[in-house]
Amino acid sequence: MPQKYGDYQHEIYFDGLFGVLPELPMTFGELESRARAALPPSLWSYVAGGAGDEHTQEANVRAFRQWGLVPRMMVGASERDLSVDLFGLALPSPLFMAPVGVIGLCAQDRHGDLATARAAARTGVPMIASTLSVDPMERVAAEFGGTPGLFQLYTPTDRALAESLVHRAEAAGFQGIVVTLDTWITGWRPRDLATANFPQLRGHALANYTSDPVFRARLAKPPEEDPRAAVLEWVGLFGNPLVWDDLAWLRSLTDLPIVLKGVCHPEDVRRARDGGVDGIYCSNHGGRQANGGLPALDALPEVVAAADGLPVLFDSGVRTGADVVKALALGATAVGVGRPYAYGLALGGTDGIVHVLRSLLAEADLIMAVDGYPTLESLRADGALRAVRPQGLIRRQALDPS
Ligand SMILES: Cc1cc2nc3c(=O)[nH]c(=O)nc-3n(C[C@H](O)[C@H](O)[C@H](O)COP(=O)(O)O)c2cc1C
Repeated sequence: MPQKYGDYQHEIYFDGLFGVLPELPMTFGELESRARAALPPSLWSYVAGGAGDEHTQEANVRAFRQWGLVPRMMVGASERDLSVDLFGLALPSPLFMAPVGVIGLCAQDRHGDLATARAAARTGVPMIASTLSVDPMERVAAEFGGTPGLFQLYTPTDRALAESLVHRAEAAGFQGIVVTLDTWITGWRPRDLATANFPQLRGHALANYTSDPVFRARLAKPPEEDPRAAVLEWVGLFGNPLVWDDLAWLRSLTDLPIVLKGVCHPEDVRRARDGGVDGIYCSNHGGRQANGGLPALDALPEVVAAADGLPVLFDSGVRTGADVVKALALGATAVGVGRPYAYGLALGGTDGIVHVLRSLLAEADLIMAVDGYPTLESLRADGALRAVRPQGLIRRQALDPS
């Protein structure tokens, strides 16, 4: 039975009959401004900030406004089916929580990774748990309930450590490995530079390393006794600038589905496909890594075409249910939410995340109802979406003198 996500509004309106108003924000704007007040200033800057003058980050959000759904009438879309199959995982909705490395710190009790996993358990929305975690992955996975979770790998330069992380993820019950390719080096982030703040250098969110036998064996003293040495060791091995020849090795590490994150060029999609990955994750890291890039949404249609049936996960700039629907209409198999759930966590812990996710799903579901698109397939049909302005490819062709 498809979930009735839109019914969240009935709960809210009926509570109102008894004088109970929502304590958590109903718009992204209010969510953002209240999270800003709730988080310590340096953490707020780290989460909200991006690369350079943040043009790409802002363009990610604006890109959604360049598309509009065309409503269809007399469809009788009284039931909508938002469920998806993601490499064999039967998910009730196409929404997932993107990996956020400092999510642990965003909770009042600093166990935000666990709070996020609990939100996944309550909503059925999977969490992609970052390598950079306040609590070790085993403890995070133990909170998933029946909801599948994926592990996001920042591939270290030490292959034995990479293998250990992947094998721990398998043992902990994760159902897939998301390898992030765009962050072997940190992009130029003026907000963080202005406060000289980089959380991991201060020893935060390194539990997956400090709990790892391979990592610990590299240290002269246990990290509990000499945390500074552990941080320095981490600095030395965090980022591995992978090349395509490394893909066979990555593939050999596990039988779990592998997804490559940060892929925006169709040629890279084809190389990933040829290398035997199970999914493509189209994302520009929310504009946190390289400024001056196109919005990730502009890359999505070409990525979907090149993926040729392989699942395509998408994130970067998703703020509303309408954004979720548009990304699906452009061909995404599943859509990731990033900063909004971090803000929900900052405001209301697990309840705050659940509210953000339920609101996104309710809005998406109700748009599909009103606009007459009962299934994800119908959304992807020709004519569902119209461009407000010509998109990237058309523009490039128009400029091409040949
Ligand atoms: C504070 C923060 C930390 C992040 N940490 C990670 C990470 O550890 N691994 C990763 O693959 N992506 C990470 N990302 C990127 C997200 O997975 C996602 O691509 C991004 O948040 C999407 O952009 P949006 O939040 O503006 O929608 C992080 C994003 C933020 C905001």
